[in-house]
Amino acid sequence: MKIFIDSANIEEIREINDLGFLAGVTTNPTLVAKEKGDFHQLVRQICDIVDGPVNAEPLGVSFNEMINEGQALANLHPNVVVKIPLCEDGLRAIRYLSQLGIKTNATLVFSANQALLAARAGASYISPFVGRLDDAGNDGLHVLAEIVNILDQYAVNTEIIAASIRHPMHVTEAAKIGAHIATIPYKVIKAMIRHPLTDLGIEKFVEDGKKLLG
Ligand code: E4P
Repeated sequence: MKIFIDSANIEEIREINDLGFLAGVTTNPTLVAKEKGDFHQLVRQICDIVDGPVNAEPLGVSFNEMINEGQALANLHPNVVVKIPLCEDGLRAIRYLSQLGIKTNATLVFSANQALLAARAGASYISPFVGRLDDAGNDGLHVLAEIVNILDQYAVNTEIIAASIRHPMHVTEAAKIGAHIATIPYKVIKAMIRHPLTDLGIEKFVEDGKKLLG
């Protein structure tokens, strides 16, 4: 499973990218609204840092807005993937943009049927929102597993992104289920790295190393 960061913050993206495992970035209007400056400029900056797909979402939600803004976003950099919400206009926009050779990510996916329709419309990526499903009293990981299972049975060229990740166990479970990618917030990535036994082990090795050196 590849690791993306779910963030529009340049410092967070730069710091995690430097750790060597980052394969891409997802942003959304809520994440972008937390940052200062021009949206398109921010997307360009992220593309300069990370060598992989950078997902950016049009701000309008009508078919015309999504295809026009989507093309403008795609023109910013070859790595830009256009996020499109899963609704009727969204499915049409996914088809339209994919026919132009523009990669799309069907976002706000909450069911296996929505995922199937997005894949058939030509989405390059599909993002089931695991945490938000859990928040609503559903089993987000179960829906993710259904989507992986269904799309695995057909030769669709679509990667599944486990999104709306809330904690490290979501990541472990998404990997076991076979999601192609997990997009993970900064603080969850940090929590995945740390283990108290690793910290203790390092402390002890440093202490004993000092004894060796006399
Ligand atoms: C995915 O691409 C979205 O940006 C994201 O995972 C949304 O997660 P949230 O439920 O934490 O807002």
